[in-house]
Amino acid sequence: MEATGKEEISVEDEAVDKNIFKDCSKIAFYRRQKQQLSRRSMYQASLDSATTGKDSTKFQIINETTKVPLVAEVYGIEGNIFRLKINEETPLKPRYEVPDVLTSKPSTVRLISCAGDADSLVLADGKGDLKCHITANPFKIDLVSEEEVVMSINSLGQLYFEHLQIPLKQRATKENKEDTSVDTSQEDQEDLGLWEEKFGKFVDVKVNGPASIGLDFSLHGFEHLYGIPQHAESHQLKNTSDGDAYRLYNLDVYGYKIHDKMGIYGSVPYLLAHKPGRTLGIFWLNASETLVEINTEPAVKYTLTQMGPAAAKQKVRCRTDVHWMSESGIIDVFLLTGPTPSDVFGQYSYLTGTQAMPPLFSLGYHQCRWNYEDEQDVKAVDAGFDEHDIPYDVMWLDIEHTEGKRYFTWDKKRFPNPRRMQELLRSKNRKLVVISDPHIKIDPDYSVYVKAKEQGFFVRNHEGGDFEGVCWPGLSSYLDFTNPKVREWYSGLFTFSAYQGSTDILYIWNDMNEPSVFRGPELTMQKNAIHHGNWEHRELHNIYGFYQQMATAEGLIQRSKGKERPFVLTRSFFAGSQKYGAVWTGDNTAEWSYLKISIPMLLTLSITGISFCGADVGGFIGNPEAELLVRWYQAGAYQPFFRGHATMNTKRREPWLFGEENTQLIREAIRQRYALLPYWYSLFYRAHVAAQPVMRPLWIEFPEELDTFGVEDEYMLGSALLVHPVTEPKASTVDVFLPGSNEVWYDSKTFALWEGARTVKFPVALDTDSAMGEFYLDDGHSFQYLHQKQFLHRKFSFLSGVLINSCADKRGHYPSKCVVEQIFVLGLKKQPSSVTTRSSDKWTLHFLMEVRYTGIQREQGHPAASHQLGFLQTMVKMSLWLLHIVPKCPPCIWRSSH
Ligand code: GLC
Repeated sequence: MEATGKEEISVEDEAVDKNIFKDCSKIAFYRRQKQQLSRRSMYQASLDSATTGKDSTKFQIINETTKVPLVAEVYGIEGNIFRLKINEETPLKPRYEVPDVLTSKPSTVRLISCAGDADSLVLADGKGDLKCHITANPFKIDLVSEEEVVMSINSLGQLYFEHLQIPLKQRATKENKEDTSVDTSQEDQEDLGLWEEKFGKFVDVKVNGPASIGLDFSLHGFEHLYGIPQHAESHQLKNTSDGDAYRLYNLDVYGYKIHDKMGIYGSVPYLLAHKPGRTLGIFWLNASETLVEINTEPAVKYTLTQMGPAAAKQKVRCRTDVHWMSESGIIDVFLLTGPTPSDVFGQYSYLTGTQAMPPLFSLGYHQCRWNYEDEQDVKAVDAGFDEHDIPYDVMWLDIEHTEGKRYFTWDKKRFPNPRRMQELLRSKNRKLVVISDPHIKIDPDYSVYVKAKEQGFFVRNHEGGDFEGVCWPGLSSYLDFTNPKVREWYSGLFTFSAYQGSTDILYIWNDMNEPSVFRGPELTMQKNAIHHGNWEHRELHNIYGFYQQMATAEGLIQRSKGKERPFVLTRSFFAGSQKYGAVWTGDNTAEWSYLKISIPMLLTLSITGISFCGADVGGFIGNPEAELLVRWYQAGAYQPFFRGHATMNTKRREPWLFGEENTQLIREAIRQRYALLPYWYSLFYRAHVAAQPVMRPLWIEFPEELDTFGVEDEYMLGSALLVHPVTEPKASTVDVFLPGSNEVWYDSKTFALWEGARTVKFPVALDTDSAMGEFYLDDGHSFQYLHQKQFLHRKFSFLSGVLINSCADKRGHYPSKCVVEQIFVLGLKKQPSSVTTRSSDKWTLHFLMEVRYTGIQREQGHPAASHQLGFLQTMVKMSLWLLHIVPKCPPCIWRSSH
């Protein structure tokens, strides 16, 4: 009998079941690496035969036990990046190398071998301030910057490489029976999962046998590490020595557990390490299941009495060791040497691209629910926003809008006239987003299925037939998005003629693309399923969702003939997904702890390139009490992707259903979002052109200030706005940490002035009489900003009483009717006696200027204390300028009714 969606919902309704998902002890390659590494078999490099070519320096490394030769290649890459690749010299068959993530072939810098003998080799980039010291025996690489070793590779001897072998059965006939990289008896084999790995009722048969890899990196002087999303964990990475490693394996974990290192929907195998004066990045380009162990060795402090006068010199720096392990593929790792956080962001974006410039509407508020039932429901909810005077831009439809979860179709009873519904939304300048998942219902009458089947566009099972698994529509096959032909065809499904009932205000949401397979191992696809090029699913599991979003975004671009920017939300993602749209944190729960964890989860995504990210406002699972919902809106209004969403069996929770007082608070929160929209848009432009994250942990803005390194209950939006959401129930006060001893902060609502309370010296001397900032504007939706340079990018600086508004990018031109209506100058000690204006432009400036000033005295007490649900959460930093620009003639997003 064919399974129905309903049956499967009950599967997902269970709380996270640890028997469904693996912990490290259940992962065979983890057990193998642990066992083998405890035996310490060493690698040795043959440096005397190293060759330096145009792009890289190559040398051989050999494991003293297996004697199987590996080849290491060291590349210098433009912008202070090193790349290390290690592969088998002659693998039985090619090993998977992740394609399509690097934006283009990175330009290499010729490395110069500046010293060396049989035991060591020193490679330097052209400038000579970055060096790679390679030691032959045991094999180790030190990365030296300005004469300081910042990172060592394989100094703990954890390099691990399982070379491909002929299966045991075939080998029995051959003489090299004893040839195995894993030194193990026959009995151990099952436990080590070399050719077969059991998990519950599932058996993973491995045609290629063991193929895992691993390597260690020691970061000298570092104890603060961040990155490797996605986990429902703190922003700063924790020591894993007494528990599970961080797992990177994309999984559909309904109501995922908080403070857990299990893999959830997406993976970015990239981490950052930071200390005063230096930020580093390690990007481990591998799309198979990956584990990361972190171990910090604190600084050893010797006291004079213990050690005598020589002790000070022997003080040992702290160090953090990072151990990466992947199930298959090759070692391909990029070392980003900074030195500043912003340099590291630039280096990472050079490799994987920057955040796509979102259409302006997508930075507004989105209203979603599983499900808005029918056209009438959509109409009523849409009208509700107008009635309650709450701005919103996007209505969303979940899986029930389709004919039996057949994507690209409409349920004829519920949505008989999708165009009419979209015209209603369009008349108010609003948009529609609908869902499109990667599983395709097996149905000979469903044209998407039939066409994909005919062309062989589904992932195959290991026996060669189409892979079949259960998801929302019941039995389904899964499109093989790793195949460029499949992506091209899928993109074509979004053209208006192919997608009946769609219009140009319809955008797309990709879900369940880990991929989620309800009865599969860990609710995903069997690792021995086969993709394009005959690659096993295990090689590329973590990149499957990335490809779906890529094809969808391309489809939306194509349907507009290249003119319009797409909007695509995805649940699963990989390094580089930022190029294709937005990401959200999946099925969270309506509990305070999930509101709180959304901040570190989004900060982590933001610093790994994915600026356009958000969490379901209100919590997807369960029913939030009014106070939690209000707090969630207040927090969500200051997070990049701002969408209310709820699962199907929850109570309705449109913003006006919780009494007038709460409606007012939610209205106010959403309006604050809209008031800051030009600021958000300008920040996204900076993310797009310069890789600067929109949402920033404090350590990025205050990289020398140790007190900021562990902060995750507040953050900066851009450089000017500090946000501290309320995440506790019944809070009447919040403690806001204002960093920067030379900093002056203003409450964004009352303009009350606060001085940065820190005593730590801030690296950039700040004069409170100066401020600067910028503003970006374009048509809000097309690629004209790119192709025709139709944009306006202005710079504002304020120094010694003079405000200068100048062009930040001369290439840009955009005829706009926007006017600067109000300029707030904060922090003046007395009212100016006169204000003059000057313009070099031919037109005259008309100013009606009211100058407000605030006293310099410190405020006593905390403004947030005065009103229980009032929220002091944003502070404007005076060192950078925040302009409230209120356009008289609103761009499309600014609904005239609001
Ligand atoms: C998944 C998504 C959720 C969506 C549901 C139905 O659980 O995470 O957002 O509403 O599927 O499509």
